[in-house]
Amino acid sequence: MDNKKKLARNKYETNDDMINLIDNLNRDDDVKYNRRAFLKTAVGASVTLGLATLPFSIKAMMNTAGEDDKRIAIAKLSEISKGQSLNFNYPTDEDPAILVHTKDGKFVAYNNKCTHLQCPVFYEKEQDVLLCPCHKGYFDVKSGHPLAGPPQRELPRIELEIVDDTIYAVGRKVRHG
Ligand code: FES
Repeated sequence: MDNKKKLARNKYETNDDMINLIDNLNRDDDVKYNRRAFLKTAVGASVTLGLATLPFSIKAMMNTAGEDDKRIAIAKLSEISKGQSLNFNYPTDEDPAILVHTKDGKFVAYNNKCTHLQCPVFYEKEQDVLLCPCHKGYFDVKSGHPLAGPPQRELPRIELEIVDDTIYAVGRKVRHG
């Protein structure tokens, strides 16, 4: 290759390199601006979504609080003797619950969906415990705390009140632990 041609090619390549360099710098800026724009959009969308759903969250919280404080008559005292249990629903018709008249004469009530995998929990009079037959989960009848088997959380406790000869459910405490 003669010198003239070499110089011409080098000049051509140098011009190309400059164009590529500028192009790359512009691309870098584009990426920065795109990242910034994306972050701005994402934050904006999150805030907008949060604000848009806020009224529903507040309404849901208010509804739950209202339901958990509902007062309903469960049974007459004469309908459940010592060592017996009775099923009812509280606070809604979709929440099965159990009222137990313990062997030592106390009344306790819990939502009786097992906290393991939701099977119904029964009162086992002989051992004076609440039993989930699905995987042999045991709960303390006096507290609703898990005693043995897979369940790790307490059963939701239903507050009771006895007025005259009637037992009322007056509230629910969903506990974790
Ligand atoms: S569902 Fe109750 S122990 Fe598994």
